[in-house]
Amino acid sequence: MTAQMQDKTVVITGAGSGFGKASALLFARQGAKVIVGDLNLDTAQATADEIRALGASAKALQVDVAQEASVESFFAGAIDTYGRIDCAFNNAGILGPVKEMHEVTLDEYERIMAVNSRGVWLCMRAEIRAMLAQQVPQGGHSIVNTASVAGLVASAMLPAYGASKHAVVGMTRSAARSYGRRGIRINAVCPGPVETPLAGPLFASDKRRDMLLERQALDHFGTPEEVAEMVVWLSSPAASLVTGTPMRVDAGALT
Ligand SMILES: NC(=O)c1ccc[n+]([C@@H]2O[C@H](COP(=O)([O-])OP(=O)(O)OC[C@H]3O[C@@H](n4cnc5c(N)ncnc54)[C@H](O)[C@@H]3O)[C@@H](O)[C@H]2O)c1
Repeated sequence: MTAQMQDKTVVITGAGSGFGKASALLFARQGAKVIVGDLNLDTAQATADEIRALGASAKALQVDVAQEASVESFFAGAIDTYGRIDCAFNNAGILGPVKEMHEVTLDEYERIMAVNSRGVWLCMRAEIRAMLAQQVPQGGHSIVNTASVAGLVASAMLPAYGASKHAVVGMTRSAARSYGRRGIRINAVCPGPVETPLAGPLFASDKRRDMLLERQALDHFGTPEEVAEMVVWLSSPAASLVTGTPMRVDAGALT
């Protein structure tokens, strides 16, 4: 796969931690130039430093995906840096409180939707505008969005999060249908529980951890690096026939 990502420009959000960071490093190892976006510029810079230590090219830029003006200036900065966007991974997200729907406040609901749903929509819109204005690169353009198994089935204790991730799956499918014939493949990854800072509350007790593990077909939790493998594959020309797909990376939790 190395040659397939060679010199591609990839924009990643939430790249200071977890799936975004693991994907940024894997894209870089496979030859890509990486725009490392995150709300937290310090962690974004740390990821970019790790990439440069591998001998690859990276630029850290701050972005709040929930804010239109921030997203617009982030993409202007990305294009200013590398001249084009070949691939994108819209991954920044938050979990929100673990409680039932009647307990969730409107502010909590709106914050989750703003980051997880509006954020992906704002980033996709900017990416698609940039991609339509460019010549289609060899192998085409690719966008991958981070949804979740919570975007495919019920999450009784994460109702707003589940709604935001169903929205990500829906907008992935709609955009894939619109832009497939113009050289842009658009897919989602739907991970199961992986121990990252975001998922801390899900792993907070042995009881919760055992319950999550019990639901899976495989006997271990995934890692950010395993999710990154799927993200990079979906972004590569090896996935040339795959678009509009919410791809489960869930250790068989939904089998
Ligand atoms: N970890 C899991 O179990 C799991 C499972 C399924 C889906 N996901 C999804 O994966 C994605 C990545 O999560 P992770 O587990 O790697 O978590 P993480 O906490 O390791 O990383 C999330 C990153 O997103 C950044 N971020 C948060 N709000 C932002 C904003 N408004 N603008 C820009 N950046 C912002 C954070 O600073 C952080 O670096 C999220 O969309 C999450 O919903 C996670």
